[in-house]
Amino acid sequence: RRAVAATDDREAAPVAPEELRSHQWYGTDGLRSFSHRARTRQLGYLPEEHLGKPVIAVLNTWSDINPCHSHLRDRAQAVKRGVWQAGGFPLEFPVSTLSETFQKPTPMLYRNLLAMETEELLRSYPVDGAVLLGGCDKSTPALLMGAASADLPTVFVPAGPMLPGHWRNEVLGSGTDMWKYWDERRAGLIGDCEMGELENGLARSAGHCMTMGTASTLTAAAEALGVTLPGASSIPAVDSGHDRMAAASGLRVVELVRQRTTLSQILTPEAYEDAVATVLALGGSTNAVIHLIAMAGRSGVKLTLDDFDRIARTVPVLADLRPGGRYLMEDFHFAGGLPGFLSRIAGVLHLDRPTVAHTTLREQLDGAAVHNSAVIRERTEPLAEEGGVAVLRGNLCPDGAVIKHIAAEPRLLRHTGPAVVFDDYRELQRTINDPALALTPDHVLVLRNAGPKGGPGMPEYGMLPIPDYLLKQGVRDMVRISDARMSGTSYGACVLHIAPESFVGGPLALVRTGDPITLDVEARLLHLGVDDDELERRRAAWSPPPARYGRGYGALYQDQITQADAGCDFAFLAREGDVPDPYVG
Ligand code: FES
Ligand code: MG
Repeated sequence: RRAVAATDDREAAPVAPEELRSHQWYGTDGLRSFSHRARTRQLGYLPEEHLGKPVIAVLNTWSDINPCHSHLRDRAQAVKRGVWQAGGFPLEFPVSTLSETFQKPTPMLYRNLLAMETEELLRSYPVDGAVLLGGCDKSTPALLMGAASADLPTVFVPAGPMLPGHWRNEVLGSGTDMWKYWDERRAGLIGDCEMGELENGLARSAGHCMTMGTASTLTAAAEALGVTLPGASSIPAVDSGHDRMAAASGLRVVELVRQRTTLSQILTPEAYEDAVATVLALGGSTNAVIHLIAMAGRSGVKLTLDDFDRIARTVPVLADLRPGGRYLMEDFHFAGGLPGFLSRIAGVLHLDRPTVAHTTLREQLDGAAVHNSAVIRERTEPLAEEGGVAVLRGNLCPDGAVIKHIAAEPRLLRHTGPAVVFDDYRELQRTINDPALALTPDHVLVLRNAGPKGGPGMPEYGMLPIPDYLLKQGVRDMVRISDARMSGTSYGACVLHIAPESFVGGPLALVRTGDPITLDVEARLLHLGVDDDELERRRAAWSPPPARYGRGYGALYQDQITQADAGCDFAFLAREGDVPDPYVG
């Protein structure tokens, strides 16, 4: 719907200084403008350094607590360098950091808060364009959701993956190998000495997780959407190429302002379809399902779980990356990065849509090549025939659930077993290793009250731990179901995002230990083997748990959060409606 407009705009006369949004603040003959100019002198700038130039907000999620973004303070300087060179005026805005490792109960609780902050900063200040710096998991969707609502010319600078981990002669993936070696420790195969070495080797540099976890998945999605420069998402965070990409992004955003190319011209329905295809063909994180639905919603694009299932059947999995495969993001980068990867799935992409860098995606992919077909497979040698995520339906998940079936043991993809129910994560942690539960590899572990409201914040509890005594018998996977999410670096036969969640009375709330549960991925089915009359009786006896928050941000959150199938945005942010221009002279 907007692809043609963008092309036309690029041929129009460049934006005049008086047309800039920031002109209202700086350029008019009034007391306020005088005051804004005086305050800019206070900042130490000459009039000729900024008057009439596009003002570019550089939104930076750098923080001392966030190891994935610890290099972004420097990168913001590179972005500013590019903005100055192009004749713009850069202003850095520190924004909230969402550190996947440290923030509790989960940064997902705060994704929408950063989205709000992003939107409102861009709206309320004299800004003509924006560069967004982030990459750790929820940062990417949060920044892009807010920016989509603000709808200025925008470039996203992905934080870039950290260097590969190392331990003795092993290459380690952050996250993925943490889970693996923790299980080895629980199984008694390694001890404290090895764990100490692993602590030093797991995460070796600044940058986000270097597996195809949530961070790499979402930054790849951003590149596929066309909001980064080509090839940007896989550049290692500490590579000097990352500095150059940041500077080039600063140069580019000034051009976008001059051409009047706003974010909504890039974030089209076709762009979202291509981002879904990309995520699925990468074998990417299940979290992308929630985030892309939320991001699309901010662009006025209706993306549903069914779109994911439909598109999954059109693309094979071609990236041999951990946690599902063997390699890490640096290998992917040198194998051709996302441009090379997209060239292999070009047949399903919408090549005539614009990106921030090119008039069409076709032009952007011209000359893109794969240099290592072990990392980025040929279409004839896929890792899986279909995309990595399947959408399940059934009486246990009327509004859907997802499973990353390519990361599960194949024997479990069609399985019926008795449920063992845990009412919340604490109970699970307390009791899972109790031999009295007498769990077998055929049991289906069920966790509830871990969804958007119940978690709260839908924590990444979805890879439920396998009991120690089964690990010692060599069991490494079981069917596990929940209304939680799962880390993008996790794996296993984990059914996630069950909607509606148990906390609001979804059928998951009615399951009892011993009930038979059937998972059939090929049939896209998740079924509770209890008849409807009995379920009705249980429903009549069910009462909702008390609200989690009595006040504060959490109270706003529990009041407004939508379910997983709707993207977990806030209802008041996702809905359509006008917002007045903030400038009052
Ligand atoms: Fe930041 Fe994994 S902890 S991306
Ligand atoms: Mg993660």
